[in-house]
Amino acid sequence: MNAPLDSSAATPAAIHRQDYRPPAFLVESVDLHFSLHPTATRVRAKLALRRQGESRVLELDGEAVTLIEASLDGTRLAAPRLEMLPSGGLRIADAPDSFVLETLVEISPEANTELSGLYLSGGNYFTQCEAEGFRRITFFPDRPDVMARYSVTMEADRATCPVLLSNGNPAGSGELPEGRHWARWEDPHPKPSYLFALVAGDLVAVRDRFTTRSGRDVALAIYVRDGDQDACGHAMASLKASMAWDEAEYGLEYDLDVFNIAAVSDFNMGAMENKGLNIFNTKYILARPETATDADYEGIETVVSHEYFHNWTGNRVTCRDWFQLSLKEGLTVFRDQHFSEFMGSAAVKRLANVRRLRAAQFPEDAGPMAHPVRPDSYVEINNFYTATVYQKGSEVVRMMRELIGAANFRKGMDLYIARHDNQAVTIEDFVRAMQDASGLDLSRFSRWYAQAGTPELRVEDSFDPATGRYVLTLSQTTPPTPGQPEKQPVPIPVAMGLLGPDGAPLPLRLAGENAAEAPEERVLLLEEARQDFVFEGLGEGKPIPSLLRGFSAPVKLSGLPLESLGFLAARDSDPFVRWESGQQYATAEMLRLVAAHRAGEAPALPEGLANIIAAVLDHAESDPAFAAEALALPSEDFVAGQMTVADPEAIHIVRQALRREIGARFAPRLAALHDGLENSGPYRIDGVSIGRRALRNAALSYLAQAPGTDGLPRARAQFAAGANMTDVLAALRVLVDSTDPAREEALAAFHARWRNDPLVLDKWFALQATSSRADTLVAVQALALHPDFDLRNPNRVRALVGAFAAGNPVHFHAASGEGYRFLAEMVIALDPVNSQVAARMVGPLGDWKRQNEQRAGMMRAELQRILARPNLSKGTFEKVSKSLA
Ligand code: PHE
Ligand code: ZN
Repeated sequence: MNAPLDSSAATPAAIHRQDYRPPAFLVESVDLHFSLHPTATRVRAKLALRRQGESRVLELDGEAVTLIEASLDGTRLAAPRLEMLPSGGLRIADAPDSFVLETLVEISPEANTELSGLYLSGGNYFTQCEAEGFRRITFFPDRPDVMARYSVTMEADRATCPVLLSNGNPAGSGELPEGRHWARWEDPHPKPSYLFALVAGDLVAVRDRFTTRSGRDVALAIYVRDGDQDACGHAMASLKASMAWDEAEYGLEYDLDVFNIAAVSDFNMGAMENKGLNIFNTKYILARPETATDADYEGIETVVSHEYFHNWTGNRVTCRDWFQLSLKEGLTVFRDQHFSEFMGSAAVKRLANVRRLRAAQFPEDAGPMAHPVRPDSYVEINNFYTATVYQKGSEVVRMMRELIGAANFRKGMDLYIARHDNQAVTIEDFVRAMQDASGLDLSRFSRWYAQAGTPELRVEDSFDPATGRYVLTLSQTTPPTPGQPEKQPVPIPVAMGLLGPDGAPLPLRLAGENAAEAPEERVLLLEEARQDFVFEGLGEGKPIPSLLRGFSAPVKLSGLPLESLGFLAARDSDPFVRWESGQQYATAEMLRLVAAHRAGEAPALPEGLANIIAAVLDHAESDPAFAAEALALPSEDFVAGQMTVADPEAIHIVRQALRREIGARFAPRLAALHDGLENSGPYRIDGVSIGRRALRNAALSYLAQAPGTDGLPRARAQFAAGANMTDVLAALRVLVDSTDPAREEALAAFHARWRNDPLVLDKWFALQATSSRADTLVAVQALALHPDFDLRNPNRVRALVGAFAAGNPVHFHAASGEGYRFLAEMVIALDPVNSQVAARMVGPLGDWKRQNEQRAGMMRAELQRILARPNLSKGTFEKVSKSLA
């Protein structure tokens, strides 16, 4: 590292997977007592400990907790037997084989702006313990392989804290003097400390019930602030559907008498799967048609199911150490995606998930933070809650299921749970269960967990019309990533078909196979760097290969000529390949136009691309949701990702020009779609209704790009009609991107109407932050000073800073360097307030290798400026220093 580091500050140390050692002491039970107070909460903890290793020295983690007293089996502990560690932890010498340790500590929820540990939000108490927040509540061996039974008693003022919740089942409550009261909760299931939760405050419950398949009656409740009760219906419906699905699909039932969810508006992530008491970002609970978009509704279904599914994949069977994070996250994302496919239009859900994977995970895998699904080392674990661990991890599970088959996969899940219930295990344990259940050797497949980088799959083919032999040659390479210069081939399942020149599916008979059973679709397994697949018995014309159907592997496919892409976009039976081929076609043309633009040529809509769009419009009404996806041009970032040196400005100009020309060329059809898809009935959230709104708004957005159409008046009318947030926001988006005279008035009206609804106000910030207008950078700088902007609220930071830096490439990469400077200033201001969120914002500055020299220099200078700050958190330090390497 050549960064100018403050020599007095030690460089934070990396933790390595290979250094794992089992804990020296186990905790059998935990008895916690909380006396809640905003600035001086007292936590008394009684831990029943048992020695497991050789050492008699007990070390407990601790951070920002003040020790008041400690005793061992009733005897007060003091120095030198008791020692405070520089890390903030505690060390106790001469520990017996089994004993009770009692500590009393004080913490300040009000001072906790990190939102890790116990904190206040809107006057209510919430906890967040994953990954290492429990040590900010009490001294503890805060690691996931220490699983204990918890009993939790809370006391607080009855007036301000009528609700007192923790994990498990309620086990008593009562009154105390001076207007205080208490409640006790007991969790019968042993759990790691990261699943501990406490919620206390003035909240109201929306209640329902669910009866499990074996007859357990479960009381469901969602706790929100008074006034939000009407906004919990979709979350509750999603929860019940998830509970039923896990029983039907995996035979997994809920295992407590209550399932509570509490919603909080200050939260670092989406939600948290604490045992029996999930805590959610309000963004993934609250929805009304007039405040939430269709995407918000879909997000609620996804996140509610995700957290619920963790009850088995994460909680009952948990991770041995944090390197195994994908054991629970990859598997649980796979489960929530499968569930969402079941709940809605499977094909459209699939391609939306692929789009997200490519938008977030592929760049990560190609950038300075690239890491395997199971990382080998980290400095700050919070930096590894990544698209790689989550989304690529899910793709790896999905491929495994594809390889061994759905029935074996189910057997493997049964075996995994039967073997490892109440254990903290590894990714190897999961793969072994799948291997034992299927009888298939998955050792090579495990490379997917160990190797970073996105494999590149190349196709070549040749056809001999005389013999009807078609040779498909597939080859793979994975580019080097930090710390992994050499890569090995990975097993890539390639779901495929062949189309005849007329578009009809051809029988797939591999050389040496029986003609009678030739299927029309099959899965080829590419295991080597390069392999030939020889098909026989084909007719006269050269077949067109349809590859990676359903996105059967998370790879980049190349090598198909433009004509084949155009053909597949129009003719293939697989919706994913149809969509993907159109996207690849558009990408290739956009890259060509970017090069032409740099040579001084004005971009014009290529005929081939116009034909693809015309075909999508022809069939739009039969599947509006698919059509909306197929009409969207690849994002500016996606195109940039295909270039060795990106040109954000040229890409933006080309993409905007294409959008304008598409709007102009198809204006009458777009207007007809906008009219025809209008919904007069009540707002409905089913897949068909969502698809209709998506297509209608896609049509509006194209139309509004083209001068001389009535796109802007339509947007004004749609905004004024205010039918639902999806339509309002789509209309406002159009106006915000425009120079329409109604723009300022619409923004002001929106702000005035929603100023007291934080989730809606987030949209107001994000919309302006992602505008393509020339004055956006100035507007964003002004918004950072707006009275409604708040560095302490992660949603608001993401809505302004995150949306700008990650979602507005042309302005973030402004030639002046002002975009980079803005981001660096925000990271510097945020780091002492909330280092987890600050570290997450750094990402876009790490993309300097793909930018021209001038931009790269400015980006590096901003990274250096952040790094030079005294007292930088270790999370931000890790992100910045790795970004500079
Ligand atoms: N475990 C949570 C999930 O995947 C995410 C999370 C991580 C939340 C860390 C908070 C802190 O659902
Ligand atoms: Zn999760």
